[in-house]
Amino acid sequence: MLGNIKLTSFIYNASGAQCTTKNHLDELSRSPYVGAVLTKSCTIEPREGNEHPRYSDDGFGSINSNGLCNEGYKFYGSWRPPVDGVRKPYIISVAGPTQSDTITILTSDELRSCDAVELNTSCPNIESNDGGHLAYNSNDFYEYLRIIMEATGRTIVPYGLKLPPFWFPEQFDNTIDNVLNEFNPSFITCCNSLPNGLFFDSALGQPDIKPKNGFGGVGGRYLKPISLANVAQFKRRNVRCSIVGCGGVSTGRDVREYEQVGASAVQIGTELMRNGVDVFEAIYNEYRYGKK
Ligand code: DHB
Repeated sequence: MLGNIKLTSFIYNASGAQCTTKNHLDELSRSPYVGAVLTKSCTIEPREGNEHPRYSDDGFGSINSNGLCNEGYKFYGSWRPPVDGVRKPYIISVAGPTQSDTITILTSDELRSCDAVELNTSCPNIESNDGGHLAYNSNDFYEYLRIIMEATGRTIVPYGLKLPPFWFPEQFDNTIDNVLNEFNPSFITCCNSLPNGLFFDSALGQPDIKPKNGFGGVGGRYLKPISLANVAQFKRRNVRCSIVGCGGVSTGRDVREYEQVGASAVQIGTELMRNGVDVFEAIYNEYRYGKK
């Protein structure tokens, strides 16, 4: 369960992984092992994103600087499951990236077609007043959400917040006190990629990806101990909302670990990029019936 939303499986896709186009969304919809369909973070207008290569996988984890390539919120608002799809929650990830764009999207008629919104408050394109990451500064984070909630009349329920990776105890305390207890999201997703990592190809003498001098968000197994800790840290503090784990899940055992430390659901990103939608069947069976 994500708040009051009943998922059809404990696992579903992470935003950004194979969920940008109609074909991607249709494919996720057709798999009975996928508990919800979550979209790529959307903006007002469609975006091509950054130059290629902008995604790389070194076999252990991934790096990306996709640049918010997406089809625009009107497309995601008008997508409907294919007739042979499985009825499951449809969640639209909203990036903005500016505050006023976020408000435009959240108050649009198109957004009414979804079951929930995952508000991406950890996208590298949303910068706080001091140039850092919005959600790393809980005062900025509070102010950002206060204005959005006022403008939308708090009508965007149910919604969740996609959080960045946190490290220090006070970041969990401050986020709960200043943000979660104030705005009561239905869920939080822990966590977005680790910002500004670097994968470097020594044979070529250059970074794996082209945009931003090769710096990008690191996901996959590199991220797992961090996101697992983030779930556990929020759970220990008895947050009122559901917690979704996201980071480095490729086996049923990974899913169980997230569940055991407090996750109500788990998202899969890098492994889905690597092996396609079939990973859900394998991981679901391992999770449900043991092994791995
Ligand atoms: C992108 C990357 C992110 O980590 C995110 O949260 C949103 C968008 C991107 O580069 O497309």
